[in-house]
Amino acid sequence: MVKVAPSLLAADFKSLADEIHSVEGAGADMIHVDVMDGHFVPNITIGPLILEACQRSTTLPLDVHLMIEQPDRYIPAFIDSGADIVTVHAEACPHLHRTIHLIKENGAQAGVAINPHTPVDILKHIIKDIDLVLLMTVNPGFGGQSFIHSVLEKIEAVKVMSENTKKDLWIEVDGGVDERTAPLCTQAGANLLVAGSYVFKHTDRGEAIGKLRE
Ligand code: DX5
Ligand code: ZN
Repeated sequence: MVKVAPSLLAADFKSLADEIHSVEGAGADMIHVDVMDGHFVPNITIGPLILEACQRSTTLPLDVHLMIEQPDRYIPAFIDSGADIVTVHAEACPHLHRTIHLIKENGAQAGVAINPHTPVDILKHIIKDIDLVLLMTVNPGFGGQSFIHSVLEKIEAVKVMSENTKKDLWIEVDGGVDERTAPLCTQAGANLLVAGSYVFKHTDRGEAIGKLRE
């Protein structure tokens, strides 16, 4: 069963709680929260303070995508603030195994994200330790970008890795996911779809989430 996690990056931050309630009512399975530090990516978004406010606005799991350098410094704070899943970028973690275990020791599920150009081989010796692989289908930093089709073969490769090693792995895709690209991702093996613009800009968010899940 494919799950859908709307990305708050495309929400109206003036009424964040209302936006969260809206996608919760529309059938979202999780809330995807994009954390950016202005170093790993050229944009700055939110920290643990806002995450904590999100937690008080929903009962859905919070899927926190850290696009930051030195994530170990902030992982406990994000988990204290309500993160259920914490995903770090392999490109930002020289000691990825240590970082993954820090997430788990603090009580959250652990994910590894990779940029569109990063080979999936980097996951080979960590896949058994993690709950989720996040394949970026745009270059991280901004919402509303175009889907990069060359990532589809990476989704297929992670699906094979998952079947051989860790069958209950979340295979998440993030960036440019809409009604045209979602079926390509799920056919390739993705089981968790992040969508920002497509869900939040849709006039009927329930219909948008339903179409993604089809
Ligand atoms: C990009 C973020 C995405 C982004 C997706 O760095 O990780 O989660 O919000 O936005 P859309 O769906 O608009 O491409
Ligand atoms: Zn994201």
